Amino acid sequence: MKIDILTLFPKMFEGFLNESIIKRAINENKVEINIIDFRKYTSDSHNRVDDYPYGGGAGMVLMPEPIFNAVDAIKKDNSLIILCTPQGKTYNQKMAYDLTKEEHIIIICGHYEGFDERIRSLADIEVSIGDFVLTGGEIPSMAITDSIVRLLDGVIDKDSHLNDSFNNDLLDYPVYTKPQEFRGMKVPDVLLSGHHENIRKWRLEEQIKRTKERRPDLIKKGWYYEKISFSKRQSWKKICKY
Ligand code: ADE
Repeated sequence: MKIDILTLFPKMFEGFLNESIIKRAINENKVEINIIDFRKYTSDSHNRVDDYPYGGGAGMVLMPEPIFNAVDAIKKDNSLIILCTPQGKTYNQKMAYDLTKEEHIIIICGHYEGFDERIRSLADIEVSIGDFVLTGGEIPSMAITDSIVRLLDGVIDKDSHLNDSFNNDLLDYPVYTKPQEFRGMKVPDVLLSGHHENIRKWRLEEQIKRTKERRPDLIKKGWYYEKISFSKRQSWKKICKY
């Protein structure tokens, strides 16, 4: 998979691309990520990429030309173009899974007060990462990229993301490591019992309890699924109705 991110602030991505799982995924050729400064695509003699809004109003607005030129230069027949904007569809784990099937994703980061409305015509989807407004699309583009890359084959252990919160409409169960007791807080006995069936049941009960308490909106579908194994293959079984 290739992900091209169009931004005016390439330096914001240095840490993101050079640490941890994303860095490893790039080094192991699981993904190619290019950060493209679309200021290079302006034909303005002063390299301007923004201007005052027609009709007046606060702030500067990104002009269409540099972004259109940049997209023209990198877009292919199989490219999917995402525009980061608080007006977009709210991002979720299902969208992250769907995006793993794409071969080439272009993410456009808006900035300043806003972008010229005609830029929207470039996008296949507009995506928001939540009902709050950031100074630009850089952090959303990193969040989207991160959520896709960790799901690509061979990037992290498949079991880790099959157990993720949201995968079965349930939040994840609590996990513990050493020590068995810390400042009076104990690891639940069942996790120390070595009894796999009881541990599996306890984890599922905890997922259901947590989801009811914290995200009742997620369980309106009314069914809980449980991961089951057929030799090496994993699948999900409908187990109970809420
Ligand atoms: N740009 C500014 N705020 C944003 C948000 N919440 N999601 C996506 N892009 C944005």
